[in-house]
Amino acid sequence: MSSRTTTAENVVVTQLVSQIPTSVLVAGADPIRLTWQVATSNHGHRQRAYEVQAAAGDAFEAVLATTGIVDSDDQVAVPAPGAPLKSREVRYYRVRIRTDNGWSAWSATLRIEAGLLGPSDWTAIGITIPDDPGRTRQAPPLLLRRAFEVPGAARRARLYATAHGVFRMAINGRPVSQDILAPGWTAYRDRLLVETYDVTDLLRTGRNVITGVVGDGWYRGRLGWDPDGGRARYGTDVALFAQLEVDLDNGGELTVSTDRLWRASSGAIRAADLYDGAEIDLRQEPNGWEMPEFEDASWARVVAVPFDRRILEPRLAPPVRVAASIPVSPIEVRPGLFRTDGGQNVTGHVRIRVRGRRDQRVTVRHAEVLEPDGSLHTRSLRTARATDTYVLANDQTVVLEPMFTFHGFRYAEIETDADIIDAAHVAISSATPRRGTFESSDADLNRFHENVVWSQRDNFVSVPTDCPQRDERLGWTGDAQAFASTACTLFDARSFWASWLRDLAFDQDPVMGVPSVVPDVVLKGEARFGRAGWADAATIVPWAVYEAYGDATVIRDQYPSMRSWIESLLGRRDADGLLPETFQFGDWLDPMAPPERPWQARADSTFLANAFFAHSARLAARAASLVGETSDAARYEAIADAIGSSTWARWREHLLSNQTGCAVALQFGLVPDDERQVVGDTLAALVLATDGRVGTGFLGTPLVLPALAATGHLEEAYLALLCREAPSWLYQVTRGATTVWERWDAIRPDGSIHPGVMTPPPGTEVGDDGGQMLSFNHYAYGAVVDWVYRTVAGLAPDPTCPGYRRVIVAPRPDDSITFCTATLDAPQGLVTIAWRVEGETFSAVVDLPFGTIGLFDPPCGPSSLVVVDGRQLEESASQSAVLTPGRHVVEVTRPALVSRAGP
Ligand code: BGC
Repeated sequence: MSSRTTTAENVVVTQLVSQIPTSVLVAGADPIRLTWQVATSNHGHRQRAYEVQAAAGDAFEAVLATTGIVDSDDQVAVPAPGAPLKSREVRYYRVRIRTDNGWSAWSATLRIEAGLLGPSDWTAIGITIPDDPGRTRQAPPLLLRRAFEVPGAARRARLYATAHGVFRMAINGRPVSQDILAPGWTAYRDRLLVETYDVTDLLRTGRNVITGVVGDGWYRGRLGWDPDGGRARYGTDVALFAQLEVDLDNGGELTVSTDRLWRASSGAIRAADLYDGAEIDLRQEPNGWEMPEFEDASWARVVAVPFDRRILEPRLAPPVRVAASIPVSPIEVRPGLFRTDGGQNVTGHVRIRVRGRRDQRVTVRHAEVLEPDGSLHTRSLRTARATDTYVLANDQTVVLEPMFTFHGFRYAEIETDADIIDAAHVAISSATPRRGTFESSDADLNRFHENVVWSQRDNFVSVPTDCPQRDERLGWTGDAQAFASTACTLFDARSFWASWLRDLAFDQDPVMGVPSVVPDVVLKGEARFGRAGWADAATIVPWAVYEAYGDATVIRDQYPSMRSWIESLLGRRDADGLLPETFQFGDWLDPMAPPERPWQARADSTFLANAFFAHSARLAARAASLVGETSDAARYEAIADAIGSSTWARWREHLLSNQTGCAVALQFGLVPDDERQVVGDTLAALVLATDGRVGTGFLGTPLVLPALAATGHLEEAYLALLCREAPSWLYQVTRGATTVWERWDAIRPDGSIHPGVMTPPPGTEVGDDGGQMLSFNHYAYGAVVDWVYRTVAGLAPDPTCPGYRRVIVAPRPDDSITFCTATLDAPQGLVTIAWRVEGETFSAVVDLPFGTIGLFDPPCGPSSLVVVDGRQLEESASQSAVLTPGRHVVEVTRPALVSRAGP
């Protein structure tokens, strides 16, 4: 939803957007908020005022509402004027701004269309096939169809659709969209997303047919490692629920909903499960069933199933789509067995074009790594079969692709005696646009950054998953909170998180707290709710989103959830006011923990529980003051202080013994001012003692480098960041990783694959999963990348002025890195930095868009001279400079370059 204009004016609003991602057609019930970007030739000028208008028509003949002239420099997430949109309503917006140069022209208009917002908008019913065998066992996805007449040309047609299960629809044989796995996974009992598609061009005058395919997906397919399959966690009936609304050129209207006139059958897809793969027998496809002329009299009449309209809401997060297609060359390893290597670990499937004969079979298996003998390593998939099979129907060339499944893989094996013409590894992901880019002179660091980008892409599949390959793929809250800031830097993940956080709030329990996986499935007992560092996703993720994008809506929306989590914690305290000992995942996968008991980390988990309590209370206090809940703010501030200081007092000695302890205490503000240096020095010594090898798990890892930097220990921070010995971030790169591993030593220095043996932690043994845990695609440890942007490249959002409205430009180069470029797509436009070190000089070019300001804090040594845009800064001053929007060239002579500590 963006628009551009070019005028010769000095000040031009180049882009006006709303909070609705461009991949989504309609708005939901949330108020519309607008953000604009501005180009100006005079960088000294500021926005002094703005006016936003709303109208029913693009021409703005009658203005419906205006903000009036507002004296403000706000340009991000500004509330749009006018009453909330009604279902189906279309409204146009435009903005103009006043700078010191006077008023700009009006921006190009932005069109917003509302989806179906209330239960009464629907005439559709949920439909399914009678006597569906899929109720009790894996069965073919449903084919559904209904023919209808369109009496004249269509002016506008919208298809609103959702399902219990996952679905794909077509009109007259043409798919209504490229979305995969619609409607995605949400807290289905409370929230089911509706897709809206523009299908105007698919209709024709006369006879038409609308068709749908519905598979099990997350609703009825397997979830979790239950040896009995773990199917049907949300219900036993899959169903389609759809409404096609057509406005005709002649003023007439037509609605075709799922109703009892639809017919049902099954076809080529004999089975499809997210974990196990798809079985496709092309011989069983009813020929032409997606075309209007098909005769469906022999198909079953559908039956109605209950469908709760009250939980429907228009999709607000980006849909899952194809993200990349990597051509591969199958190598024949023995007659009839071919292997492919995409060179990149992805989430998705293999697309193969084969020439074959009727009844020939094709089997595709997937794996992330190869065994030393070259075969696929499938042990770590646990019970996920991750296999797609096909049977060919005709003597001809055909493209084979599975449906309603995905696999995590870099390698595949194709078994067939048909001729393979070509093949590709197709990567899928929630369609979040890229936001940050990074490149430096260190090729391994660049590759690690790329690995994190891929792990995010691969694990952002409708919900933020832990991993994409084994019988898990769950929205673990601990992983999400660890990675949230980095995720917001690498991709525009705002609406993705906003959607998931709604699920988190729905699945949260006022007493037991926030679930360990959201949507809440699979887990039972103690591990299910309220675990430290997992449940704290309720406070940490919204805050990270707010800081990254500068839109307080996420805080307003999530405040009740944040508050509820703090109240739940308050209810569990012991007489001494602290949280008692209980099972925690803790500093999960600390490399020193026993490999089969990843929760037995060096950092005491009761310390961590209380430290996270203090931190969450602090964030809740900030959130409370942001939303105007001043008494909550004071109360939570006091709780944060009290828990923080008792935690410090009780665990001071303990926390000084391990990296996570020190890092958590420093970053969560538990350390009294006069002891910060001691803790920082201790942390530095611990890092030095291991030559920079990582000594932290999921909870400590995101915090160690920021804690080192904050206490003046960049030498040790770089020692750890650039360490190439196991366990370390770059060790994985030297071992050929293309995504981030779950275990630091998933491939061990001797080249063997980690056995991954694990004893299920208490409360998670839904059934023994075979005691295996080894993924090559977990984003949690990628959390360090945010620090790379902030400190290596030197671009950070100022927390007091979030969303990069004020950018802290503070590169702190290591002397082995000679250049670095980073870009960040801020709401106001692109922020970039490109620096290099040549001889005795550090030089940088910094670009800041209109509406931002930079605080340049140069890497100064004792005898540095700083020149900003040709002007030397006074040596006596703090050597920092304010950068206005536009381009700046800065130079620092004799800069302070970090010389790594250690051997
Ligand atoms: C998941 C982790 C998760 C952990 C917590 C694992 O199975 O893959 O990422 O946070 O369990 O127990």
